[in-house]
Amino acid sequence: MSRHLAISTDNSKVCKYPDDLDPNRLPSHVAVIMDGNGRWAQARGLPRMMGHRAGVEALKTTLRLCSEWGIRALTVYAFSTENWSRPEDEVSFLMTLFERVLQSQLESLIKEQVCIKFLGDLEVLPDKLRELIDEATHSTSRNSGIHFNVCTNYGGRRELVLAAQKLAARSVKGELNPELIDENIFASELFTASEVDPDLLIRTSGERRISNFLLWQLAYAEIHITDTLWPDFDESSLKEALIDYQSRCRRFGGLDRINSNHLHS
Ligand code: IPE
Ligand code: IPE
Ligand code: MG
Repeated sequence: MSRHLAISTDNSKVCKYPDDLDPNRLPSHVAVIMDGNGRWAQARGLPRMMGHRAGVEALKTTLRLCSEWGIRALTVYAFSTENWSRPEDEVSFLMTLFERVLQSQLESLIKEQVCIKFLGDLEVLPDKLRELIDEATHSTSRNSGIHFNVCTNYGGRRELVLAAQKLAARSVKGELNPELIDENIFASELFTASEVDPDLLIRTSGERRISNFLLWQLAYAEIHITDTLWPDFDESSLKEALIDYQSRCRRFGGLDRINSNHLHS
């Protein structure tokens, strides 16, 4: 079966499902570039940090809704490999915020059966944050609910380079014939190894770029860009993104059904 097909699984568990969405055509995997926290705060005359704090609330709502509506995986961009270039006080605020949120939310993640993973180069994160990440990953790994992937110190290029290094090391050891490296083997060395590719990418705050996010995995994702700033992203914004997704015709390089029937008639 194609890795890209959008299949909604186990709709029996879906509750409070919006009428105007087709439960059988939900994306399996939604990826989000949560952008615009700083502008949200600046527009209110607040320090940028308040925008990040408000962004956490939007993330909680999005995770809850995706889980309730039966979406299998949600992958969010929390901190990029390029975000270290921000002022030191903003970077350290963000690291502390991640720690606090993990600490305060772990119980509810476990209760809601969320399976949380952190994707990125985690080695260089502060020790306390790494400990909390290990604890959260470990204590939710057997949960049966939504896969919630938080990209932290994540860069798409870095991920590709690391995958190439791992494959090269296996080849040097004689474990892997370089000629046998195909797309599946390559994908198995990415941080997202166990996940299907995202069907839908949402970017908030109106920016029209990928900013080094999931460069490999987004190959055939549908892209929804909204001017809404991340802290304002709510139930109606998510519904709008999903309705937009359901209006798309995904061809994966082939032809849509009408054209291919036409050719065969
Ligand atoms: C996204 O919001 C959050 C992170 C990158 C951590 P920004 O902080 O980029 O907000 P803007 O783009 O400056 O408004
Ligand atoms: C992308 O947003 C990274 C995250 C949302 C974590 P940025 O604000 O860092 O991206 P650019 O600088 O606008 O491309
Ligand atoms: Mg930004």
